[in-house]
Amino acid sequence: MPHYGLVRPLLHLLPPETAHGVAIWALKNGLAGSSREADDPLLATRVWHLALPNPIGLAAGFDKDAEVMDAMLAFGFGFVEAGSVTPLPQSGNPKPRLFRLNEDQAVINRFGFNSKGLEHFAGKLRARLGSAGIVGANVGKNRDAPDAAADYVTGIAKVCGLADYLVCNVSSPNTPGLRSLQARGEIEALIQRVLEARLKHAPDPSRLPPLLAKVGPDLDQAQLQDIAEVALATRIDGLIVGNTTVTRPALGSRHAAETGGLSGAPLFTLATQCLSDLYRLTGGKIPIIGCGGVASGADAYAKIRAGASLVQLYSALVFHGPERVLSIKRDLAARLRADGYTSVAEAVGADHRR
Ligand code: FNR
Repeated sequence: MPHYGLVRPLLHLLPPETAHGVAIWALKNGLAGSSREADDPLLATRVWHLALPNPIGLAAGFDKDAEVMDAMLAFGFGFVEAGSVTPLPQSGNPKPRLFRLNEDQAVINRFGFNSKGLEHFAGKLRARLGSAGIVGANVGKNRDAPDAAADYVTGIAKVCGLADYLVCNVSSPNTPGLRSLQARGEIEALIQRVLEARLKHAPDPSRLPPLLAKVGPDLDQAQLQDIAEVALATRIDGLIVGNTTVTRPALGSRHAAETGGLSGAPLFTLATQCLSDLYRLTGGKIPIIGCGGVASGADAYAKIRAGASLVQLYSALVFHGPERVLSIKRDLAARLRADGYTSVAEAVGADHRR
């Protein structure tokens, strides 16, 4: 594929959702190429029982229907998270529902879980079972589900033999009521139910795929404390911190007032603070995937030092293309080495030990 730097101006002439569709089409049809170079051995890391070639992953929402996982892995991501998928197909909110905030290097979306549904999603995961590359499956709930937790149970039961790790997304701002699942009683019950579903449906109970909850960056201190306590008590395997924000830090773009979740550069500070708080509140005992505003090696390194065992990004792809993964990895390795680290794991949470 021609370098993204050449294609981006063309993609940016299109409405954002159309541009995303073109990118997915190109990826599906093998037209997007790849930019694989061997990862620096310093970046290889082990989290749970997963051996990852590097800690930089693709966040959920880019590949909602699990159609371009391998094409994205080929750009050098250490892992790729597909979803969020809902049990039943649904079309999501009316368009337009995706906005590029160029001046702010940010995105606002209010997709509302447009999804081809769990059957399609599971079929795609099944088709690549045994392939190289680490893939996570992120599940959500249908807009009109009467029992929210039941939708997560349905999702986890279906995908738990098909993905390397599992995520319950309880933090999308675009499905009414979803974020209230982060309240203490709700999240505790939900986690218990999905952990049971995983045990019941995993093909090999001695090798359960790690299960994570993805939380939002808009939680106050009391809510963070609750989530930390629930995470420790339920023994969930990990947290993703976090999703998009409904807050609006100072923004300069004309789309700044659109309803939805904000991601990209303006989210970085908020999400990293939240990650740092949850690392501290969990005593560093639970692996956290740091996500929100990562666009450089320095950003990825800051997430790791704040407490992230792994890092994810999405919005940076909109502005820099998938080639950006290579420079993030190179720069991260250089920064780790310059500070005397011999592995990513050694640097996790370093800011808390100063
Ligand atoms: C998302 N995100 C998201 N997260 C999730 O768990 N399920 C989803 O379906 C989606 N969908 C989605 C669509 C779009 C267009 C965007 C921009 C984001 C959130 C995403 O995974 C990530 O948490 C945030 O975007 C923050 O990371 P970045 O984008 O700042 O790197």
